[in-house]
Amino acid sequence: MTNIRPVVPPTQIPHRDLLQLEVLPDEEQIRADIERLRRERNAVILAHNYQRPEVQAIADFVGDSLGLSRQAANTEAEVIVFAGVHFMAETAAILNPGKVVLLPDLRAGCSLADTLTAQGIRDWKARNPGGLVVTYVNTTADVKAESDYCCTSGNAVQIVRSLPQDVPVLFAPDRFLAAHVIRETGRQMDVWDGACHVHAAIRPEDVQGQQEAHPDAELLIHPECGCSSQILSAFPDLQLYSTEGMIHRARASEVQTFIVVTEMGMVTRLEKDVPGKTFVPVSRTACCEYMKMITLENIRNSLANLQPRVTVPEEIRVRALRPIERMLAIG
Ligand code: 13P
Ligand code: SF4
Repeated sequence: MTNIRPVVPPTQIPHRDLLQLEVLPDEEQIRADIERLRRERNAVILAHNYQRPEVQAIADFVGDSLGLSRQAANTEAEVIVFAGVHFMAETAAILNPGKVVLLPDLRAGCSLADTLTAQGIRDWKARNPGGLVVTYVNTTADVKAESDYCCTSGNAVQIVRSLPQDVPVLFAPDRFLAAHVIRETGRQMDVWDGACHVHAAIRPEDVQGQQEAHPDAELLIHPECGCSSQILSAFPDLQLYSTEGMIHRARASEVQTFIVVTEMGMVTRLEKDVPGKTFVPVSRTACCEYMKMITLENIRNSLANLQPRVTVPEEIRVRALRPIERMLAIG
């Protein structure tokens, strides 16, 4: 069932230091164009925590999947530019049928979302009658339309805790997030065998190497990480954090240095929001090539042309809206 497949080799990611905010020569003009166009279009730019530093810097809101869903649900803007990946723009389109939702590069997909199809869910439900389907927001609109609840890494535990005890739970598509939910809730679930190629590739040795280099550092680990189960068996009291949870933890902790065990773009957001502390990426190869496809240039072009748009057929949209609204009502 697993299909971990990046479509664009990392060598094709436009070259620049993905952790440094540097202004390239023609970039001032592009930024000025974005400023003008976003006012003229009454547009909002929503960016995920894994976006490039220069994209995070011009966004109206930077956050995790849950925060972005909430922003998309509440925005007054007429145009939403999604600096993120396809399923995130689809979620915005599901929540805002009357608005224009732009994804500046339609190739920005998600290897985790690719592991699951609507037919896959239908077959799974047929094998488990009466089960409640909980899907991570990293899924297509078609898959959401077959789901009972959505969740993100920020609220998956809370969503599963809210379900009646006497029904089977089918949890998809991330097997590492599922293991975290099972550990936290003690509830057995039927789990889809999917994973994200970036998080699955982070190895316990990567974490150990950084711990040796920074012995006083605290670990901030995302539940999608392939290394999380092994690290938790060595440190059972360790907490796992969604990307937004990492911000709260870094602020609250007495510790000065943190090893950031997730996609490297998170370091940009942590450095901005928690100044004065040090954030070390677990690995510079923990880089989502889909997220990095969004650039200042294609944001400017999408605002200028109001293309490429992400739309969801109405029959799918109304069914996909239900699990998203249930999620937003719970947490
Ligand atoms: P969160 O931002 O919700 O923690 O999700 C991480 C992720 O991989 C999004 O694609
Ligand atoms: Fe998908 Fe993984 Fe990229 Fe997130 S980091 S968008 S889960 S491929």
